[in-house]
Amino acid sequence: MRSSACARWVQGSVLSFALLASVAAPAGQVEVLHWWTSGGEARSVAELKRLLAADGHTWRDFAVVGGGGDSAISVLRSRVLAGNPPAAAQIKGPAIQEWGRLNVLANLDEVARRQQWDAQLPRVVAEVMKVNGRYAAVPVNVHRVNWLWINRQALRKAEVRAPTNWDEFFEVAEKMRKAGIVPLAHGGQPWQEFTTFEVVALGVGGADFYRRAFVRLDPQALHSDTMAQVLATFRRIKGYTDAGAPGRDWNVATAMVIRGEAGMQFMGDWAKGEFLAAGKAPNKDFLCVSAPGTSRAFIFNVDSFAMFRLKDAQATQAQHALAATIMSREFQEAFNLNKGSIPVGTGVDMGRFDLCAQESSAYFVASNMVNALVPSVAHKMVQPDAVEAALREAVAAYWNNDRMSAEQAMQRFAAVARPR
Ligand code: GAL
Repeated sequence: MRSSACARWVQGSVLSFALLASVAAPAGQVEVLHWWTSGGEARSVAELKRLLAADGHTWRDFAVVGGGGDSAISVLRSRVLAGNPPAAAQIKGPAIQEWGRLNVLANLDEVARRQQWDAQLPRVVAEVMKVNGRYAAVPVNVHRVNWLWINRQALRKAEVRAPTNWDEFFEVAEKMRKAGIVPLAHGGQPWQEFTTFEVVALGVGGADFYRRAFVRLDPQALHSDTMAQVLATFRRIKGYTDAGAPGRDWNVATAMVIRGEAGMQFMGDWAKGEFLAAGKAPNKDFLCVSAPGTSRAFIFNVDSFAMFRLKDAQATQAQHALAATIMSREFQEAFNLNKGSIPVGTGVDMGRFDLCAQESSAYFVASNMVNALVPSVAHKMVQPDAVEAALREAVAAYWNNDRMSAEQAMQRFAAVARPR
């Protein structure tokens, strides 16, 4: 960590706390919409509630169950349309701009200036949080999506090592099956299929291909030999999941790996929050390894809270306190220690973080240097909601229908690209 950045962070935090204390804000209530309801997620949210309460404000929970957040966003839409938005909602990526265009978001510039967010945040992240140059959202973390989670005992039982490429992955899966273990825990929901798919696309096609397909929506990448290979690998993976997969929640799939009933899972590092909440330790009970073929790359997923413009002055004060709390070093550390992600701001000491988080932090920097830091399309980091949804449905249709050919899937992908 650069010392000047650290000094700025400390100054910013001290200054903001001093200012907040001197204003002696009246206590208010913040209603927060989110979808963090699994074991590890709930522990992380508890940290935010605790710190907000320490500031004298109360948290009104508006949790909508459903990994990936599709249900939460539908509920949010109806609340905003009814003219009754919550103070804050888990909204990320380009969707922040989409909400901003509706002119319903708050202006957080005053808090941002006090805490010097511009100096603390990587520029790419800061830009996503702003609408028309003004902060309207606050980032909480950086998740890495391209992980493979492995139960160590399952490796021993199958007498194999963690795979590093696709050939090894399929060998390991085969041996786990012979040892009576479900090789791959999968939750059969479209967002989880899409999550696995983007990881396979990166692992098979590489970062440039990934960017051409999912960032630029280049029809020649979406319909290509490489994409056909990605689809073939994706389908082969399905052969190592169990019959109970359809409809299963992601954390239930993670629990199968935690118990050793299944050997592996493709999932972002929110899965680590589940291992930790179950009392398991990295390297001892489970391994976090880069998904096959992706060791130099990093698919990022930044969670954030967008804030809505409120009429009530006290509620607005509490909302600003929430924004300031999220950007505090104390919150960034406590939250991310539980969530499985890494802090987004500079200035947090990684010393208390486990090996997976330390690796993630190192990969974040290293992948950027080799131009292999890419946004998650499945986790709404890059495309407008409608495009993401169309791709997600096409991927899920292919996964769930063994008679659908790679050619048919690619035609659906290319159709998504065409209207742009
Ligand atoms: C992601 C979100 C993560 C995690 C996951 C499962 O979209 O970014 O923080 O919560 O969904 O719920």
